[in-house]
Amino acid sequence: MKTAITELFGIQHPIIQGGMHYVGFAELAAAVSNAGGLGIITGLTQKTPELLAKEIARCRDMTDKPFGVNLTFLPTFSAPPYPEYIAAIREGGVKVVETAGRSPEQYMPALKVAGIKVIHKCTSVRHSLKAEKIGCDAVSVDGFECGGHPGEDDIPNMILLPRAADELKVPFVASGGMADARSLVAALAMGAAGMNMGTRFIATKEAPVHPNVKKALVEATELDTRLVMRALRNTERVLKNKGVDELLEIEREKGAALKIEDIHDQVAGVYPRIMVDGDMDAGAWSCGMVVGLINDVPTVKELVDRIMAEAEAIIRQRLTGFLDGVKLQKPARAVA
Ligand SMILES: Cc1cc2nc3c(=O)[nH]c(=O)nc-3n(C[C@H](O)[C@H](O)[C@H](O)COP(=O)(O)O)c2cc1C
Repeated sequence: MKTAITELFGIQHPIIQGGMHYVGFAELAAAVSNAGGLGIITGLTQKTPELLAKEIARCRDMTDKPFGVNLTFLPTFSAPPYPEYIAAIREGGVKVVETAGRSPEQYMPALKVAGIKVIHKCTSVRHSLKAEKIGCDAVSVDGFECGGHPGEDDIPNMILLPRAADELKVPFVASGGMADARSLVAALAMGAAGMNMGTRFIATKEAPVHPNVKKALVEATELDTRLVMRALRNTERVLKNKGVDELLEIEREKGAALKIEDIHDQVAGVYPRIMVDGDMDAGAWSCGMVVGLINDVPTVKELVDRIMAEAEAIIRQRLTGFLDGVKLQKPARAVA
């Protein structure tokens, strides 16, 4: 399949693996790129720019296909040394950066001068237009369903994607709630040129996380995510667990007076406890509603091949079948 996104990034399939803290290591990024998508290493999971340089080199050893690095611009007073991280990306020969969080505007010249393509993750049309204006090559439009930070507008992708298509000139991918061929074809129908998946890629053989995490994803349903930190205007969609229940209880007690210190134990240092130790009650970790569509743990290549084969079948058979009036068809189900 050829779209503006496959052409922009030089990849075979219009499927991107979004940056994920403590998940987006070289193993997963390389597996996604080897399967024909765009794998992404999560920059800030590497505690220093030197460690990121090593992770990029490790990924380069595992794939000769294009891969990217995620740089998340956090709302923090003690910012990580972003220029040094960008230097590691540039010197590692990486040609795609997925930015997220705050606007990447101040770092655009450094990225562009190195010939790096920038795809910025946005949860609104106005932020997408700003990304386009400051020279981003593409946008990852992240709907309210998404795992991680859906922003504060609460607009799901059925509305957000066509709105983005109406306004954007640069290509965009649909992010949030994407799991299978049906997601991809729907995203394309709504004007996207591909899709970005986070949560779905964690439940794959190559995702370097504790088996308990994959088991929790297979067992959970679409009813099992919660929104936390709304009062702080730093909303995060997470998987429900004991730590999250405690967090929500504190949020209920404190109301609008909530401070980040009040929930420190339920949000700080949780990722290694979940992803490395498999302590599934540790606290808040990002997870999308799409968890309700995850029923297996395939290899990345099995997942990507399945998505592309079923997308072709949906387009060629189901959709053209409607036009040809061939026969009434059963609902499109994911094939296991
Ligand atoms: C466990 C996890 C960690 C994430 N960490 C980051 C991150 O560090 N930076 C970032 O930009 N996005 C992060 N995301 C968001 C993903 O890149 C992606 O945008 C999101 O998962 C898409 O929604 P989906 O989970 O419904 O596919 C994370 C998502 C998950 C599930």
